[in-house]
Amino acid sequence: MAIKQKIKFKETIAKVLEKKPKFDLIELPWIDCSEDPVRPDLDLSFRQAYGRKIFGLRDEEKDIAAIICFAFTNQVPKTIEEMDAFSKDAAMQAIHRAGVQGQIAIAYTVWSKKKGGGRAIVNEVYKMIKRSSHLNRLVTLSPLTDMARNFHLKNGAKELQVNEKSQNFEYDISLEQWEKYFERAKSWIKFK
Ligand SMILES: CC(C)(COP(=O)(O)OP(=O)(O)OC[C@H]1O[C@@H](n2cnc3c(N)ncnc32)[C@H](O)[C@@H]1OP(=O)(O)O)[C@@H](O)C(=O)NCCC(=O)NCCS
Repeated sequence: MAIKQKIKFKETIAKVLEKKPKFDLIELPWIDCSEDPVRPDLDLSFRQAYGRKIFGLRDEEKDIAAIICFAFTNQVPKTIEEMDAFSKDAAMQAIHRAGVQGQIAIAYTVWSKKKGGGRAIVNEVYKMIKRSSHLNRLVTLSPLTDMARNFHLKNGAKELQVNEKSQNFEYDISLEQWEKYFERAKSWIKFK
């Protein structure tokens, strides 16, 4: 590569890296539940029971740009009541088996406090769940609104089912092809 081309290439890479916003996904011990536009009726104790978690997306300005709440289950719930029961079951099973509870992460609410925050938090959560060794599905329990539908479909989720009072979308967290080969290669090396 000619020197001029090399410099241009380096500058382009630097620009791309510079523009990429940096986010941190952090677990929040508490939130103001009345700020939740989707499920303001769910209180903090509900959001913390049975291993449920609340995450915030901290942006470069150190602001919380979006919030997402999770329950962990072994079945896909159609209602909040079902999610409550399923995540309680998963938590009880985990106590008996001394294991990790629930293999399905159910995102039952997400909202943004800054434009683009919603999309960004879903991307970060997707990466986190993909890295997890015990969670194998990322599913939503969404309200029956166009906003929720457009939002998840545009983010790459697939419609799982439309229920009487909710809809479930799923983000496919199965490994990319090259990652599968890499995982396979690692296991070959281990056995040799
Ligand atoms: C949905 C939400 C999380 C999106 O957050 P965001 O990514 O930061 O916001 P954006 O404004 O960039 O919207 C992203 C996409 O969401 C969808 N969306 C946002 N507002 C919408 C509306 N009023 N009607 C329909 N779709 C809408 C669109 O697909 C939009 O993409 P587009 O701008 O390319 O059309 C945010 O609008 C929000 O907090 N809504 C209230 C809570 C909610 O309904 N959450 C989703 C279901 S749990």
